[in-house]
Amino acid sequence: MSQPPIAAALLIASLAAAAQPRQMDPDARAATTERQMMPAERTVLLHGIMALPLGPGGLPADAVPGAGFIPGIARLGVPALKETDASLGVSWVSGIRGDGATALPSGMGMAATWDPELLHAGGAMIGSEARAKGFNVMLAGGVNLMREPRNGRTFEYLGEDPWLAGTLAGASVAGIQSQHVVSTLKHYALNDQETGRQFHDARIGEAAARESDLLAFQLAIERGQPGSIMCAYNRVNGVHACGSDFLLNQVLKKDWGYKGWVMSDWGAVHGVDFALRGLDQQSGEQIDDEVYFGERLQAAAAADPAYAQRVADMNRRILRSIYAVGLDAQPARSEAIDFAAHGAVAERLARAGIVLLRNQRNALPLTDSLKRIAVIGGYADSGVLSGGGSSQVQGEGGPAVSRPRGGDGVFAAMLAENYHPSVPLAAIRARAPGAELSFRTGRYISDAVVAAKQADVAIVFATQWMTEGLDVPDLSLPDGQDALIEAVAAANPRTIVVLETGGPVLMPWLERTGAVLEAWYPGARGAEAIAAVLFGDENPSGRLPATFPAALEQLPRPRLPGADTVEPDFSGKGRPGQTLQIDYDIEGADVGYRWFARTGRRPLFPFGFGLSYTSFATGPLQVKTGRSITAECSVRNTGQRAGADVVQVYLVSANGAARQRLVGFQRVQLAPGESRSVSLVIDPRLIASWSGDGWRIAAGSYRFATGRSAAELGAPIDVRLPARQWRP
Ligand code: BGC
Repeated sequence: MSQPPIAAALLIASLAAAAQPRQMDPDARAATTERQMMPAERTVLLHGIMALPLGPGGLPADAVPGAGFIPGIARLGVPALKETDASLGVSWVSGIRGDGATALPSGMGMAATWDPELLHAGGAMIGSEARAKGFNVMLAGGVNLMREPRNGRTFEYLGEDPWLAGTLAGASVAGIQSQHVVSTLKHYALNDQETGRQFHDARIGEAAARESDLLAFQLAIERGQPGSIMCAYNRVNGVHACGSDFLLNQVLKKDWGYKGWVMSDWGAVHGVDFALRGLDQQSGEQIDDEVYFGERLQAAAAADPAYAQRVADMNRRILRSIYAVGLDAQPARSEAIDFAAHGAVAERLARAGIVLLRNQRNALPLTDSLKRIAVIGGYADSGVLSGGGSSQVQGEGGPAVSRPRGGDGVFAAMLAENYHPSVPLAAIRARAPGAELSFRTGRYISDAVVAAKQADVAIVFATQWMTEGLDVPDLSLPDGQDALIEAVAAANPRTIVVLETGGPVLMPWLERTGAVLEAWYPGARGAEAIAAVLFGDENPSGRLPATFPAALEQLPRPRLPGADTVEPDFSGKGRPGQTLQIDYDIEGADVGYRWFARTGRRPLFPFGFGLSYTSFATGPLQVKTGRSITAECSVRNTGQRAGADVVQVYLVSANGAARQRLVGFQRVQLAPGESRSVSLVIDPRLIASWSGDGWRIAAGSYRFATGRSAAELGAPIDVRLPARQWRP
């Protein structure tokens, strides 16, 4: 029987698509496939659902419950996109899949390692778990800068510095994509607090944005080549980020030459015209007012060549990333996971990211000879804390402790303070089998004090839970923990505080304690990592990726914007027409330590700070100029134990004007007495200013110094640089 012509054409097109050589470059392949799309196929990849069984029909047969699902086009060999959150592992989605995954430490915990190789290994580990569960897109790669330490998502991100955060996010993205899983940098851009998250308006000048938040994205894109970028809920200078011609068309696609696709955040699309402004895909469409990128976009494309052109480009961008990352050639399929090996990866990151903030009279490390140890608070008898929201990961069997925090709202079930079953009390017991251990919940101060008095050492576990959707109102430790620590420290001078916090907290009790460890949310094997540091099996080497202020008054915005006008609410939608302007021009590009340097304020702990059980000496700095600018110095372990130092190099001033910026860093592992030379190529954008339509370095004298932290700099050296100007 002869084929009708249309069917024959379709068959030939399908065979041609299937036969496309895989080694062809992804742009050419994407163009070929896009040209073969039939009209009805042209919006298939451009919109998708939140992958939860919400409606009467449930989920499409080939969807995996998770964050999102976009059907494929089998005729053209295009796989469906199966999306899962997020940067800390395959998310739990309240347990609906019935499976668990390996939780990495929080973003802050990983950033505190200052180690791109570890971030790459962590990315590869979670990417492989995503693949083994049938996902081929991870919504992982949170790189918003910490402008606001009360931001409920601080724990998901990588601190306050564009070079540190951009380098580490790029490494994590590359690790994920090494597993043939697309990674997604997010939330583009200036999505720096959760209060009013659907409507707040980040106001900032272009130069300030280009030198800070946007630079972190730019660096991460260059290093990680993410297949996709997620635009943010908020507005930037009055315009929704997902409908911002400036952010998407001008900066991302034109200036930076980004070739992948832009997906919306879930519920962030407000019109079909967002397609013209640079948005390529509508995600989680059930929670938008309309499905804009389906039939409406098809109709717009039929009537208007500008839309038709965009539709072609939108498809090509998505296809390009599918081909570049190998989603079609290496399809995700269900596989067994080696949780022991993956837990070891999470533990390596946790150990390297724990920061020793204080250590008086060698309170740490603890020795095997201790007779009585009091462990107090923080659910240390049950687990370690994790952060809430879409990034929430849990292991098989779910959380060890789950405290509802959601009130009676729609999102109540999502809002729970969850603890991983990695148990500090057990890990301490395993490390000190001869000691008598007592545990107190910390709910009653008097009872904790009795235990502390009777012990050789008191270890207080203190927690600050953070979640997507809600900011913390201030930086105190909640539930009376500050008073608890104060009383325990008064009862026992060898009081060790182990902090499990999303980000910076205030420490009114600091001077009374023996030692303080910042363990962040330490992930699936957090307790083992904490015990290893407490007992000196691991020499602490984490360095703060963000400034810890001494008081809220030191921040650019002492009060959280919207604290008194916006009702705390996970959806962040607010009342109809509600607005909230946030003035980021107060600090401009001077986020975090740069703000503290500019205003001469002394933080509680500066960016880059972290103690060790050994000591290090950094040799004199040399800066060589030529085709590139290179900083060189040596570092020596001058103590008795092996350990890692992080060499940090800062720009201090430009032509006499104070201008502090981290321009290079490297983590170095050293045996006692060992010395190493470090050579760091400085990215010129870290020295330059954004001016008009490009980067500019003014000719003159630039001062650099090494730093033990941003606030403890070594001897400076001055270098003359010629004038230079270039486009992004
Ligand atoms: C979050 C994103 C997340 C998405 C899908 C949104 O609410 O802002 O980070 O990837 O949901 O779960």
